[in-house]
Amino acid sequence: MAFSESFLTELTERNDIVDVVSGYVRLGKKSGSNMFGLCPFHSEKTPSFSVSPDKQIYHCFGCGKGGGVINFIMEIENLSFPEAVEFLAKRAGMPIPEEENDRESRKRSRMLSLNRDAARFFYAQLSTPQGGAARDYMAKRRIGPATAKNFGIGFAPDTWDSLEKAMREKGYTDFELFDAGLVRKGNKGGYYDTFRNRLMFPVIDVRGNVIGFSGRILGDGEPKYMNSPETLVFNKSRNLFALNLAKKSKSGYIILSEGNIDVVSLHQAGFDSAVASLGTSLTPEQARLLSRYTNQVIIAYDNDGAGIKAAQRAIGILEKLDLKVKVLRMSGAKDPDEFIKLKGADAFRNLLESSENQIDYRLRSVTDKYDLSVDEQKVEFLKEASDLVARLPGSVERQVYAMRVASMSGVSADVVTKEVERRRKKLVNQARGSEERQQSRPERQLQPEEKALRYEDPSSAAAEEGLIRLLYLDPALARNAELPAPEEFSSPVLGHIYSVLRDKIDRGETPSAATLGGALDGQEMSLLVRLLQKPELLSKGDRALADYIKRIRERKEQGKQVSDLRALADKLRETKGYEG
Ligand code: UTP
Ligand code: MN
Repeated sequence: MAFSESFLTELTERNDIVDVVSGYVRLGKKSGSNMFGLCPFHSEKTPSFSVSPDKQIYHCFGCGKGGGVINFIMEIENLSFPEAVEFLAKRAGMPIPEEENDRESRKRSRMLSLNRDAARFFYAQLSTPQGGAARDYMAKRRIGPATAKNFGIGFAPDTWDSLEKAMREKGYTDFELFDAGLVRKGNKGGYYDTFRNRLMFPVIDVRGNVIGFSGRILGDGEPKYMNSPETLVFNKSRNLFALNLAKKSKSGYIILSEGNIDVVSLHQAGFDSAVASLGTSLTPEQARLLSRYTNQVIIAYDNDGAGIKAAQRAIGILEKLDLKVKVLRMSGAKDPDEFIKLKGADAFRNLLESSENQIDYRLRSVTDKYDLSVDEQKVEFLKEASDLVARLPGSVERQVYAMRVASMSGVSADVVTKEVERRRKKLVNQARGSEERQQSRPERQLQPEEKALRYEDPSSAAAEEGLIRLLYLDPALARNAELPAPEEFSSPVLGHIYSVLRDKIDRGETPSAATLGGALDGQEMSLLVRLLQKPELLSKGDRALADYIKRIRERKEQGKQVSDLRALADKLRETKGYEG
């Protein structure tokens, strides 16, 4: 990362972490020198999110996330490192020095301008003679010219190199086109256009950048859609189609649908807050993005098995962020696009107004599974429905829905309420039990939260963590020590953190959350902050350092001896000719 140390240091000094975090989290009650609040990254009822004004870092004891002020902004605003730096520079009224615009961010802005030019090219093709097929298809789908303009819908001609030629004329290289996913490599070395004979939907982020494309075939055929690959600027799971338009809506809610065409149709019919996830099921990142623009989401997924399943999953993700969730129940049409075409915008508006909250919706899904006139099925229904109601957090809510279940099944409200409360108690006890078990298992606490980061050798990893902690807190210790190489670490993640840290120290820089943030990803940063929480006696730093190094080397020696023995055994086996 090419932001200079002095720039990053000034940036973090002028963006005090307590001030910045307070814009998002209500921080209260000091404990020691730390302030605590409810974690914005996972849902919780008691504060486990801590901010240290001294160390200028945050750490959540619940979900394990942590970092400096830049990491916090990356995480909560859904930004990359350079974008977060820019965000904080603006906040503090600092100019970003010209030479700080490093290679990666130059590459980014080149790619964005290429995408914009490509979108213009596609759009222009709509009004050429060869755009006839696309115009016919749009007419068939009843997408009007104003809508095409609003979304920047275009057409990729049915040729192998129209886009490539046009973009090269504008000064872009084949490499740039390739990196942006706009051309592919052919067998004989050349390049050909990725999108051919397709209706093109540019994907535009909330800042108005064209970050990628989604191309629909004209008519039937496979694949129905082709999307830009993941690139420097395009990350499907962090963006939503049409959020650039929907974020300006005054409707007070966002309509979440599945298809690009549904979104286009909805906007055209006046529902200007429709978005779609880009061919994936809703991700937590997308939900967090939504929560920045609305507190209510109405799910309008396809009216089929897959759509219903996807809706259930989306409800879970959205609820975690305290978003109000409603689910639309369409009948007589497979998706919003078809519904509007068959029944009109007013009918859709009625649907929106009568859309159910997620409890009703789930209760109805349970009801639909059983025939309540058959006694055995009624019993099953009562079990499943009481379980659902038991999971509602509010006791009034539970009471209301217990009564609903009672009237649906013709069982007395009293009986249902008792059953619900019995199940509630059981759930609460179960939750308590598992929490206690987790807390009383020390080896679990030694382990990072994420599975991908689990240590294979916890005792060596503890020493590796210690070494990182010491060097971070007192880089001068590195001067007289014979430090191990990163490859000697048993944990690859710790090895990587260590090598980044060493790199800074070797260049004479003072490591900080800000200067390391560009080289470590979110998981690594969280891990670093977590391991910094443990106490370290700096007054005896030299001794501790030597001890950590010894433990890391010992482990490696042992490992080597074991593999030497194995090699020996293999050799014996070979010479004696028997099989193991
Ligand atoms: P749909 O098949 O429902 O497409 O896929 P649609 O946009 O509603 O189009 P019509 O109305 O059938 O013509 C929903 C979304 O899933 C992604 C696209 O983003 C699409 O809008 N998708 C679908 C793909 O990425 N690839 C595919 O092959 C199909
Ligand atoms: Mn669809």
